[in-house]
Amino acid sequence: MSRTVIYPGSFDPVTIGHYEVIKRASKMFDKLLVGVLVNQSKKPTFTISERMELLREVTADLENVEIVGFEGLLAEYCKENNINAIVKGLRAMSDFEYEFQMAITNRKLNPNLETIFIPADSEAMYLSSSMVREVASMGGDISNFVPNCIHDKIVKRFQK
Ligand code: COA
Repeated sequence: MSRTVIYPGSFDPVTIGHYEVIKRASKMFDKLLVGVLVNQSKKPTFTISERMELLREVTADLENVEIVGFEGLLAEYCKENNINAIVKGLRAMSDFEYEFQMAITNRKLNPNLETIFIPADSEAMYLSSSMVREVASMGGDISNFVPNCIHDKIVKRFQK
């Protein structure tokens, strides 16, 4: 059976931590969808299409990875597209409570949907998209935080 899973997130913007999870998950499953979604509690800096474009560049060499973007419930999208598993990266225990809550809610909404956690690489433990945005907006060096191929685009976006 061919196994398609989804790695959802805001990716505002994608970081080396996200890339690490994408690379590892892409080796474990036949197909990995990276879903750029709306988190209603956040006000994004990059539009959904900008975030998708950055992700496409970063994952260009990963053949079984596809970038998708949609509004609405993740659990519904998975039902409609026959996806039975969500992949999430866990950085620290502090992520756990929120992630656990989302995993249970998603399974209540769609009982066929499991959530699989991948532990973040130690290099990415401290990283978040908001930290990247804050450093970039103040002209700081983000070269250790985002993939090389999109570094200049992100820096330029904050110079506007
Ligand atoms: N490396 C680096 N950073 C990571 C990371 C990793 N491995 N894993 C998570 N992060 C960061 C993210 O960048 C994000 O940082 P930020 O808060 O500075 O932007 C933070 O950790 C939280 O990540 P995550 O828990 O994945 O939240 P998110 O906002 O990226 O994604 C959605 C949440 C979009 C998946 C969720 O809101 C959703 O499913 N929305 C769709 C609507 C829906 O179905 N709602 C019901 C959900 S139960």
